[in-house]
Amino acid sequence: MTENEKFLDEVISGLSQEQKTLPCKYLYDARGSLLFEEICELDEYYPTRVEIAIMHRYAEEMSSRVGEEALLIEYGSGSSRKTRLLLDSLRAPSCYVPIDISPEILAESAAAIAKIYPDLEVHPLCADYLSPVEIPTPEKDFRRRVVYFPGSTIGNFEPLEALEFLAQMARQAGSGGGVLIGVDLRKDSQVLERAYDDAQGVTAQFDLNLLVRINRELGADFPLEDFRHAAFWDRDLGRVEMRLVCKTACRVDIAGQAFDFRAGEYIHTESAYKYDVAEFASLATKAGLSPQTVWTDVSGKFSIHYLTVPDGPFLQSGSDR
Ligand code: AVI
Repeated sequence: MTENEKFLDEVISGLSQEQKTLPCKYLYDARGSLLFEEICELDEYYPTRVEIAIMHRYAEEMSSRVGEEALLIEYGSGSSRKTRLLLDSLRAPSCYVPIDISPEILAESAAAIAKIYPDLEVHPLCADYLSPVEIPTPEKDFRRRVVYFPGSTIGNFEPLEALEFLAQMARQAGSGGGVLIGVDLRKDSQVLERAYDDAQGVTAQFDLNLLVRINRELGADFPLEDFRHAAFWDRDLGRVEMRLVCKTACRVDIAGQAFDFRAGEYIHTESAYKYDVAEFASLATKAGLSPQTVWTDVSGKFSIHYLTVPDGPFLQSGSDR
């Protein structure tokens, strides 16, 4: 199956459900990725800013937790902006393995890191971090593997998938290894909804761009003017939902299949789960990780957890399961 056929398949199956959905991974085409970068700079979108502030403030403590001569693996490394804050304080890190799906960004940021930290071995891996990839064995000795997963991207997984994914991280870090992960916290509904529906409408463009992409890549005919973006905080489920709401009833053709939309009906395009500190620690524990330290900002907006993989046979193998 080609990438395009897979995309079509997932769009058709998502829109055929009672509650229409579209997979959030398709939000990130070239334009979507640029819009996401813009979102990270918005006043309303606090997670990036607050996570960076926590990294600045506690980098030393994080570094003593991670320890000397670590092999650092980063999922979805992008520009590696936050990683530099960590690398600046890590003690004699041995190796850095950034994993990213975009070859250009990966090559560029890996080269920049290698230049700034000449003693660090850098092994970029162009891959989808969702499937377990073989981590290269560095020339230098290392004491432990540590998986770094910032940005609260774990919140875009359904809780069961998040559990599975945390278990994958634990297997990849291996016995005695660690996981350093950014997790957005539950908070006031207004703050959350504004973070996902900003006044300038950047998040709205980001969300609507998914329909633009479906029209372009799958030859669909979504009338863009008939859809609007909305963000909804579901306290019971602990997630912000991004929605594309249909303003007037319409019929959309996608590769010869017709989909009817009622006025007011919406497509669920993304979930961003928010976790209390204890809630996340309990999820990580179920995944076989042992919570060690959690750092938060003073106003309790965002958290960074350091978790370790216990010694012993459980989770020791580097294999998938
Ligand atoms: C990538 N991810 C962590 C972002 C989030 O906050 O869930 C994606 C995003 N969607 C809208 N704004 C940001």
